[in-house]
Amino acid sequence: MSLRNEDYAVDIGDMRLKYKDKSETFTEDNLISKEPIGQFKAWFEEACNTPQILEPNAMLLATATRDGAPSARAVLLKGFGREGFKFYTNYDSRKGRELTENPHAALTFYWESLRRCVRIEGIAEKTSVEDSNRYFQSRPYANQIGSMSSKQSSVIASRQTLIIKERELLAKFPEGQIKRPDCWGGYLVVPHSVEFWQGQSDRLHDRIRFRRPKANEKIDNILVHEGENGWVYERLSP
Ligand SMILES: Cc1cc2nc3c(=O)[nH]c(=O)nc-3n(C[C@H](O)[C@H](O)[C@H](O)COP(=O)(O)O)c2cc1C
Repeated sequence: MSLRNEDYAVDIGDMRLKYKDKSETFTEDNLISKEPIGQFKAWFEEACNTPQILEPNAMLLATATRDGAPSARAVLLKGFGREGFKFYTNYDSRKGRELTENPHAALTFYWESLRRCVRIEGIAEKTSVEDSNRYFQSRPYANQIGSMSSKQSSVIASRQTLIIKERELLAKFPEGQIKRPDCWGGYLVVPHSVEFWQGQSDRLHDRIRFRRPKANEKIDNILVHEGENGWVYERLSP
């Protein structure tokens, strides 16, 4: 496909990849686990073992202001478990400021070569000081200096501003002597909903969503099924 500069509207309506065929449907019987963390672990491991996926832990993080104006960016998942999904960032960045005024967050993984997507929604909370210290100290020296050089999301005059700051910090803090800046640390997104999506070529994509049940919700085992560890699951129309 070649696009002309003078094209005002680019029509990519025909751009369409073949997804999985009918023999590879994702049904309730294919669930590895009846709770979302075990299911995520199984899909994440498959993504890690797929050579075409260079960064299986890259995910999109959506946040919103107090008024609900959304913003999204990529971050790296650095851990997950029953308690939630963890990433690290600058607390004074745009995402950090938005999470302070509105802790609702959404995470999306898209593993293109597996035709799979996972959508997580939950509440973000800061991880402990000990956790942030531990992770900061485990990072390579250059990354530690890099995160100190940048007042993330602020406007700067040029790249040179960063280089000068980096040089200053390299001279001031030799390797092994850097303390984590207070404005840098972890967030844990505690999920209340996790959806597993698998694309099918006939466009009858499979979507199975785990969620926390509503108070006094009746589990009918027709639309809503009882999962494990306090989760229920249901199929969504594609
Ligand atoms: C693949 C990928 C991974 C990234 N991982 C992180 C990360 O783990 N933490 C982070 O703060 N920024 C990460 N970034 C940069 C962010 O996408 C973003 O530019 C930055 O965090 C500032 O976002 P904000 O201004 O919305 O706060 C990553 C970018 C990419 C493309």
